[in-house]
Amino acid sequence: MPVMKTPPAPPVKIVRDGQIAVVTIDNPPVNALSTPVRDGLLAAFCELASDSAVKAIVITGAGSDFIAGADLKEMSLPPIPPSLPDVILEMEKCGKPIVAALKGSTLGGGYEFALACDYRLAAANAVVGLPETKLGIIPGAGGTQRLPRLVGVAKAIELITEGKRLKANEALSLGMIDAIVYGDLLAEAKLIATRLPKRRLSKSPLVCSTADEISAAAAAATKKSRGSKNIEVAIETIRQSEHVPFDQAVQNEREAFLMLRESDEAKALRHLFFAERESRKVPGIADAKPREIKRIVILGAGTMGAGIAASFADARYEVTVIERDKIAAGAGMDRIRAIYQRQVEQGRLTQQAADERLTRVALTDDWEFVREADLVIEAVFEDIAIKTEAFRKIDTLAKPGAILATNTSYLDVDQIAAVTKRPEEVVGLHFFSPANVMRLLEVVRGAKTAPDVLATGLEIARRIGKLPIVAGVCDGFIGNRIFSVYRRHAEYLMLDGASPEEIDRAMEKFGFAMGPFAVSDLAGLDIAWAMRKRRAATRHPDERYVEVADRLCEQGLFGRKTGRGWYVYEKGTQPVPNPEVVKHLEAERAAKKITPRKFTDAEISRRLIAAMANEGAKVLQAGIALHASDIDLVFVNGYGFPAARGGPMYAADRIGLKEILQEAEAAARVGGVGSEVAPLLSKLAESGGSFSDALR
Ligand code: NAI
Repeated sequence: MPVMKTPPAPPVKIVRDGQIAVVTIDNPPVNALSTPVRDGLLAAFCELASDSAVKAIVITGAGSDFIAGADLKEMSLPPIPPSLPDVILEMEKCGKPIVAALKGSTLGGGYEFALACDYRLAAANAVVGLPETKLGIIPGAGGTQRLPRLVGVAKAIELITEGKRLKANEALSLGMIDAIVYGDLLAEAKLIATRLPKRRLSKSPLVCSTADEISAAAAAATKKSRGSKNIEVAIETIRQSEHVPFDQAVQNEREAFLMLRESDEAKALRHLFFAERESRKVPGIADAKPREIKRIVILGAGTMGAGIAASFADARYEVTVIERDKIAAGAGMDRIRAIYQRQVEQGRLTQQAADERLTRVALTDDWEFVREADLVIEAVFEDIAIKTEAFRKIDTLAKPGAILATNTSYLDVDQIAAVTKRPEEVVGLHFFSPANVMRLLEVVRGAKTAPDVLATGLEIARRIGKLPIVAGVCDGFIGNRIFSVYRRHAEYLMLDGASPEEIDRAMEKFGFAMGPFAVSDLAGLDIAWAMRKRRAATRHPDERYVEVADRLCEQGLFGRKTGRGWYVYEKGTQPVPNPEVVKHLEAERAAKKITPRKFTDAEISRRLIAAMANEGAKVLQAGIALHASDIDLVFVNGYGFPAARGGPMYAADRIGLKEILQEAEAAARVGGVGSEVAPLLSKLAESGGSFSDALR
């Protein structure tokens, strides 16, 4: 018997109930507005317009969402008709009252669609908003013109430029939806539809905002945008609602949307969006079931332990943090309190919420608590002897099936696992500082880590709102390994003639919030110094080594914390270059017979991107990173790499791997051992390939 393929179910269905037609969008998983959905909606409105038995329409989504937004896969293709504005036009033409029954994600094009209906009724779990600006674009189906008619121009500027997603109760208080239903959404929607007059926002006046409110909102948005073009365009387009006729303004909005979606920034942001999906594809764990994690024990309440504890408490987990003794435990508790106190002072948390979170954290010096833990996270000093000692002790106490994690930055997870009798239950959970703020979390898979242990690491990371990226074991995993190459090459450029401030300026122009020297002053020069000393014995004699930082550290100049480092910091003034640096640089150049030369900003950024991408290629080839785009996510979410540039691997692809290869060859000549060109980079450059299609 031939196997018959069932045709795909139509994504838009009409069900009639008396005088009401219910139009349901059914396009799993999130009812995105793909072409077949737009086709189906257009056909539905044509049909219903001419059906005189239908007096009113209810629109809703199948599954848990209304419509989560546009189909981003289509965003990189030429526009496919009918567009969402075409669908909305047809809907308005059909002339019958329409109730949008909202639930779950009602975002972007989905909320724009709802805005064009006459009434917005929402289930309590609905989340509404126009987050398009986060993808480098603006709403493109009337959102910039209809929203001000509900909330005023000033509020619309805030909501759209910040891409805010609002829960139903917040949306109701702003007027973005008309009512919340706690019972049967569809039944209530039908009831409202029977007695609903038409209320088209396109014909409604604006909700009033004063000129002062509007300019304040615009100024605040511009300030936060850090030069992103789409934010400027969004403000300008929203403000058209004040003086440009509705139809014309909607057309202008559409043109701006179509232009922005082709921009380099929008493409890079879409790349990062898809990169997050790709990062979830991890070989070997498809059938692994994450273990249940209830009790969490953290070892060490220093900078990291405190931040990690807060991350879990924020996500409603109970955590016990173990310190060396009662005094250290007291200091640890103070550190965690200080984290919350700052948030209260900054107005980001109420005192009540902070107090409540603190009730979930307990500090102790009693190791017996390890016995209860489903997950132990070690965050003690970065010292292999101390860490292995801690793991031996954890191993004797932890119950069978508990997961043992280390937050080490550089140490060998396999060596740590090897001191336990259960290396398959050991995994790295590498948080970034401040741990309660940074979204990145490298989940380090040891040689023996069991699939379900890795799966649990990924799952728990998501539960506390982190972006987990799987990394293999090597010195520095994905992020710190590549970052130290970036820093080293910044120092080579410096010794060869560029000043720290020129290098910082070039990278800031590229889009980093701070250049590498400003970052190192902030982190503290002593941290990297300690590491260099630790590695001195094993460093290859032919690796180029710049000594200026050592000289500064020997003088006790550790950066911001001591007021001096690469820059001099004085209260109330901008940091200025430190003359000591110039002195040390001149001495080192003279001793090494280096004649300094000038570097342009473009030369500097290109060299440093090439150095990162070259090391990235090594990381990829060694299987330390699973996808090139994982490296991009690590840098954008953990190291301040500008999202608008898509990450180092994406940026290298955009520049072109032939050019990147040449630059990497130049970097190899100045860097010596450790800076060799990656075979994968040579191969891709020579075959005209790119990282985005490597290893697929
Ligand atoms: P820290 O020095 O601030 O804190 C370490 C804490 O561990 C101290 O409070 C100490 O009293 C406690 N401790 C030491 N031995 C202990 C033991 N045997 N039992 C219980 N507590 C003990 O160090 P930090 O910065 O928090 O680093 C901790 C770990 O996190 C290190 O492995 C580090 O490499 C890693 N890490 C650090 C990052 C950073 O930016 N500081 C970023 C990512 C990882």
